[in-house]
Amino acid sequence: MKLADYKATLSFSNGNPSIEMPVYQGSIGPDVVDIRKLYAQTGKFTYDPGFLSTAACQSAITYIDGDKGELLYRGHPIEQLATQCDFLETCHLLLYGNLPNAEQKAKLEGRVTNHTMVNEQMQFFLRGFRRDAHPMAIMTGLVGALSSFYHDSTDINNPEHRDISAIRLIAKMPTLVAMSYKYSVGQPMIYPQNDLSYAGNFLRMMFATPCAPYKVNPVIERALDRIFILHADHEQNASTSTVRLCGSSGTNPFAAIAAGVACLWGPAHGGANEACLNMLEDIQANGGVAKVGEFMEKVKDKSSGVKLMGFGHRVYKNFDPRAKLMQETCKEVLAELGLENDPLFKLALALEKIALEDDYFVSRKLYPNVDYYSGIVQRAIGIPVKLFTGIFALARTVGWIAQLNEMIGDPEYKIGRPRQLFTGSERRDVLPIASR
Ligand code: SDX
Repeated sequence: MKLADYKATLSFSNGNPSIEMPVYQGSIGPDVVDIRKLYAQTGKFTYDPGFLSTAACQSAITYIDGDKGELLYRGHPIEQLATQCDFLETCHLLLYGNLPNAEQKAKLEGRVTNHTMVNEQMQFFLRGFRRDAHPMAIMTGLVGALSSFYHDSTDINNPEHRDISAIRLIAKMPTLVAMSYKYSVGQPMIYPQNDLSYAGNFLRMMFATPCAPYKVNPVIERALDRIFILHADHEQNASTSTVRLCGSSGTNPFAAIAAGVACLWGPAHGGANEACLNMLEDIQANGGVAKVGEFMEKVKDKSSGVKLMGFGHRVYKNFDPRAKLMQETCKEVLAELGLENDPLFKLALALEKIALEDDYFVSRKLYPNVDYYSGIVQRAIGIPVKLFTGIFALARTVGWIAQLNEMIGDPEYKIGRPRQLFTGSERRDVLPIASR
């Protein structure tokens, strides 16, 4: 970041002395006012719950232009990555800063492929869960537990440890997600197969059984690989900020990623794809397209607490570019599977059209986000609704790791420790219980 040729001045109307604060500029996007000395100079904090106007860090990984609906991974537009690259190339880009050449790509594929198995002991963690446990509950446990197998390489301040942990996590997340699925359906775990692609290997671990050969459908394989690319990283979203804050204490990478899994689970965040599909199924069960108008009235009535899941975004005030790509992927998969007339897809298209013409949504700049179509395509592939967010976590792991490693690699980083505006009781003495 570079110093701007202007400063910010903060003045107070109560006669407190004004202060000047430096302004820094990035390569693109808004400038930042450096308030790091504000408390020392004024005895005051800033107040920004939800971080609507706060840059928590500097980063060179992902950039979103919410007004234009633009998403760049290390400068490359998501539309080009999703159509011209595969997920492991995107992993190389996010982790190391550039797309790989053929030799670098082969090396990364080889490293990831040879770390896809998990220690045999991992399966015994699963047995502690009920068969109907939510996969995100299982994933939160399994990812955190992974650290117990690698105590020789979990020093987050050691670059070699960070690199091998990144490879292990990227390689093992598909295995863990598939294990949590197989456990929930009472089928035997399927081991990774090294001659398959990243997405193909995941499909086989999910849907193969020991009883018959399994052939990866290349259209589904490509669609899933694209879904992984679309979910890989997204600036300082809630789960990435969680990973950064967790990692800032110096904890091991597996623990920090487990914290990200837990945060992503929330319906306002990564859990929205599951919530969106449940919403579409509810509307479908209660009259379908004919009932969309009634549903939209509920959404617009604040007291109902009903939201149009898969719509709206803290940053995008235009179309989420991932939603458009996800819609195209949806069409490809439904066509491949002969489900062009999938009623839920038709319902989603109808709902989107109505919302985009309704002033409630237009005035609030609410557009479909990445979660709006992802549930429909995953359901068509045969992925159970409860596993949607697990797939999101699988894909976002590379983004979380890249952001974590960027933070730890920054000599200026400190343990995160926000302050507060205290509104509680002033000092008061404890009374004996008889007097309370
Ligand atoms: C992800 O941050 C990321 O980058 C996240 C993510 C990533 O890749 O990491 O992109 C992934 O989490 C996508 C978002 C998935 N969530 C959903 O689809 C859930 C539904 N969306 C909303 O919960 C909401 O839009 C949020 C949480 C996504 C954004 O919340 P904000 O920025 O706090 O928006 P807001 O609540 O300030 O909304 C502004 C207005 C409000 O109305 P008013 O108070 O102005 O009258 O729009 C309304 C909101 O009530 N609103 C919605 C709505 N989203 C916002 N009304 C109905 N349906 C919605 N979906």
